Amino acid sequence: MTETKRVLSGIAPSGAPTLGNYLGALKFWVEDQSSADCFYCIVDLHAITVDQSPSVLKEQTLELAASLLAIGLDPKVSTIFIQSQVPEHTQLGWLMESTATFGELSRMTQFKDKGKGSNVTRASLFTYPALMAADILLYQTTHVPVGDDQKQHLELTRDLALRFNNKYGETFKVPHPEIPSVGARIMDLQDPKRKMSKSSETAAGNIYLTDEPDTIRKKIQRAVTDTENKVRFDPESTQKAGVSNLLTIFGALTNRHPVEIATNYSSYGTLKGDLIEATIETLEPIRKRIAELRCDDAALIGTLREGAHKAQLVARDTFDKAKEAMGLIA
Ligand code: AMP
Ligand code: TRP
Repeated sequence: MTETKRVLSGIAPSGAPTLGNYLGALKFWVEDQSSADCFYCIVDLHAITVDQSPSVLKEQTLELAASLLAIGLDPKVSTIFIQSQVPEHTQLGWLMESTATFGELSRMTQFKDKGKGSNVTRASLFTYPALMAADILLYQTTHVPVGDDQKQHLELTRDLALRFNNKYGETFKVPHPEIPSVGARIMDLQDPKRKMSKSSETAAGNIYLTDEPDTIRKKIQRAVTDTENKVRFDPESTQKAGVSNLLTIFGALTNRHPVEIATNYSSYGTLKGDLIEATIETLEPIRKRIAELRCDDAALIGTLREGAHKAQLVARDTFDKAKEAMGLIA
């Protein structure tokens, strides 16, 4: 018998969602809706592992919620909720912190890049992968659609699930990552050595789901390429990183391989022109829908609360099992 596909993924309200988020993860969240039982979580507790202004955090949470609905996630089909509204996440997070080791958490490259070596790094930034494991394991998740940067966190989640099951008895499903073959790593348009990131301060390198067509046009036109003016897909070479990134974006937007796209172009100008059209075609309906949804924040919050109630029914069940297994009195 094939097991039912249960999907969970998360995204932090740490900035406006980018085209990188969309092509690396969110697009697959929408696709999974038709074939799986899906849980999608706005991970606000992960956002506060670094400093956030409370009013900005609230605004970004609502904007992200509107974005998730605008790309086509349907709250009648999928469970869409805010992490902090389901307390089992932090509760199981503690059990996961008591399963993971200091050595394992120290090896996480995201921590090493973002926080290691500074005395003002928050303790939660260090333990965050344990909370992420809890996010996933609470729902007996089988598949986790994420971009390439989350691979290491997923491996840790699998290790923790296996360790827990071996020591305390079968409690969690061991989840598989779902990482796209094209689009898993969209780079910054101004600095193609760096990934496009919603928390980055340089808006020129990011395309946001809410960018107006004119802004998209300007950003792509100004995207860094090289002086060779040869359209070639070679993401490993420093010289071709810029044009390879444009081809990756084009490929992910149109479900084609970047190498194949490259054969159709002999100049950067025409490539950029067509990429601009394809990007606007995908993002313009999303931008409009976000604006409509933001006209009624109370309705948006209501939808998320309903999602949290649905999520909690599943989460509580797993949490109780885990607690019991560890010898805590339920
Ligand atoms: P984050 O922006 O870190 O909250 O990530 C949310 C989801 O988007 C995760 O699955 C990431 O792997 C994915 N993601 C973020 N940035 C990129 C990017 N530049 N390219 C591809 N996927 C991305
Ligand atoms: N750590 C993820 C990121 O930075 C976000 C995240 C938190 C997540 N919990 C998750 C992703 C659970 C997948 C599943 O992108």
